[in-house]
Amino acid sequence: MEQSLEALIEEARTAFAAAADPTALADAKARFVGREGELTRKMKQLGALTGEAKATAGRALNAAKQAIEALLTARQEAIEHAELEQRLAAEAIDVTLPGRGLGAGGLHPVTLTIARIEAIFRSIGFDVADGPEIEEDFFNFTALNTPENHPARSMHDTFYVDGTDDQGRGLLLRTHTSPMQIRYARTHRPPIRVIAPGKTYRVDSDATHSPMFHQFEGLWIDTNVSFADLKSVYVDFLHQFFERDDIDVRFRPSYFPFTEPSAEIDMRFADGPLRGRWLEISGAGQVHPNVVRNIGLDPEIFIGFAFGSGIERLAMLRHGISDLRLFYDNDLRFLRQFRD
Ligand code: PHE
Repeated sequence: MEQSLEALIEEARTAFAAAADPTALADAKARFVGREGELTRKMKQLGALTGEAKATAGRALNAAKQAIEALLTARQEAIEHAELEQRLAAEAIDVTLPGRGLGAGGLHPVTLTIARIEAIFRSIGFDVADGPEIEEDFFNFTALNTPENHPARSMHDTFYVDGTDDQGRGLLLRTHTSPMQIRYARTHRPPIRVIAPGKTYRVDSDATHSPMFHQFEGLWIDTNVSFADLKSVYVDFLHQFFERDDIDVRFRPSYFPFTEPSAEIDMRFADGPLRGRWLEISGAGQVHPNVVRNIGLDPEIFIGFAFGSGIERLAMLRHGISDLRLFYDNDLRFLRQFRD
């Protein structure tokens, strides 16, 4: 028996309702109104009828087709609506949450200290230079009058880099900023006045030493400079850096292979929590004639003075910080205090 049109419409209604997504609905649609669909098949059978019977059956089929298409459209809309609802629910934003805000960042205290040092030295005519942290053994030691097997190399136990550079030269993480003396002086003509701040590395770690720390090198080469000039520049720098004049400074005899004579620079405050305690802040000295030669200058004509100071040390003294490791713990409660 031929299925009645009512039954066909009901069947379509059930099939459409069972389709949960557009693909399933498209399949169901094909079953009823597609080219191979049930309704189409019935339309084709009209050809066998004639006259009034054909007209009646045609009207009935058209009405059934309209009914099924209406069901289809309704189901399509329902599915789209459900999908939209689902997306809105999934992507819902809780507008009652407090905003994350734009936290203002700030520069690291070591960065701020370097900027401060640079500004002071620039103001008295010093250039500021930058150099590599992965340094050639030659610049870190050999050119600084510290040949291989020199005992001073062991004072600078360091991190050696495996292999060599493309010219076969040994590489290491620089142990001090002093290689910048050579690099800068080889590419600039005297009079030379420069500071070179940056990262340095040593196998060292405690409350006042970190395996990575910062130094700034100072170099002054001319024909007529003296230790007195170095001393006045450095003391002046300290007064500006700490914004106070009650600082005692002493140059204590010391040894570095690349300076002769050599000194450690110590300072103490006349006042405050650190009152009266001598603190070492820098190495210094007259550039050794061998180093002047390695730079390509005649030590009979040119005289140089150099210093290498610890940047964290200066920052610790200025801000009253007792543990150097605080700079590198990334604790925002500490770092926030230095926001400019
Ligand atoms: N480079 C030395 C150090 O790191 C410091 C220094 C620099 C000494 C320049 C003399 C001259 O210990």
